[in-house]
Amino acid sequence: MTSPSPSHQLDEAVAVVRARRAATPVIGVVLGSGLGAFGDTLADLVRVPYADIPHMPVSRVVGHAGNLCLGQAGGVEVACMQGRVHLYEGHEPERVVFGVRLLARLGCKAVLLTNAAGGIHPGFSPGDLMLIVDHINLTGRNPLLGANDDALGPRFPDMTEAYDRRLREVARHAARAEGLTLLEGVYLANLGPTYETPAEVRMARALGADAVGMSTVPEVIALRHMRVPVAAISCITNLAAGISPTPLDHGEVEQVANRTRQDFVRLVSRWVSLAAKELAP
Ligand code: HPA
Repeated sequence: MTSPSPSHQLDEAVAVVRARRAATPVIGVVLGSGLGAFGDTLADLVRVPYADIPHMPVSRVVGHAGNLCLGQAGGVEVACMQGRVHLYEGHEPERVVFGVRLLARLGCKAVLLTNAAGGIHPGFSPGDLMLIVDHINLTGRNPLLGANDDALGPRFPDMTEAYDRRLREVARHAARAEGLTLLEGVYLANLGPTYETPAEVRMARALGADAVGMSTVPEVIALRHMRVPVAAISCITNLAAGISPTPLDHGEVEQVANRTRQDFVRLVSRWVSLAAKELAP
């Protein structure tokens, strides 16, 4: 038996999610390592475990809850992925982007992606928040590889402005309104699961990267393909290898993400309400 096409798989997933909450989400959010708290703040919250959603892959990484949270933030309908799967878990790129394609299919007019990242820019410190202005894809993978699904988007999507200009401005406004400092920079995605060597971090810096991580880029590509505008924010959880005097570990990444939890929830909440206003017809 052949497996159903990506479009058909999405239809099946949408039907299950809609049965749990019928309202159409306006804004999609993806919460990275240790950053899941925003999902729990939604009003009228319906939590759908990924395992209940057909074709949705489930993450085994500590700190990734694995729920689709449906509800309202400041009166705005939101669909929020609490946790994501990564390429380094061995999932095919197409599976890694299934969740964000689902957000798009559910009707989200914009998606905010978040992640934990290592700081490369000399001015960055653990706990800083960085608005992603552009990316460098060094994962060696692309979720659009293979026959193009014309039902989803075009063969050769433009990536000149992968991170939507208006939604970036919304993020700056949101940070100002919350009294938070929001740095800006280029995110470089590696495949992982190893952290980088100091030589790789020096290379990343020479290439123009300000932060490094193992997620987000496949999702941005899939959403651009579907013409969904995207914004993305990194929580700088550590200084990248070689910049940091101490070895890296995932526990530290989680601890710093936990420490910035309150600031992060405020920033995401404010971004959601401002973005919904910006997108209102
Ligand atoms: N490198 C790659 N991914 C990461 C890092 C890092 O230093 N910190 C959090 N995610």
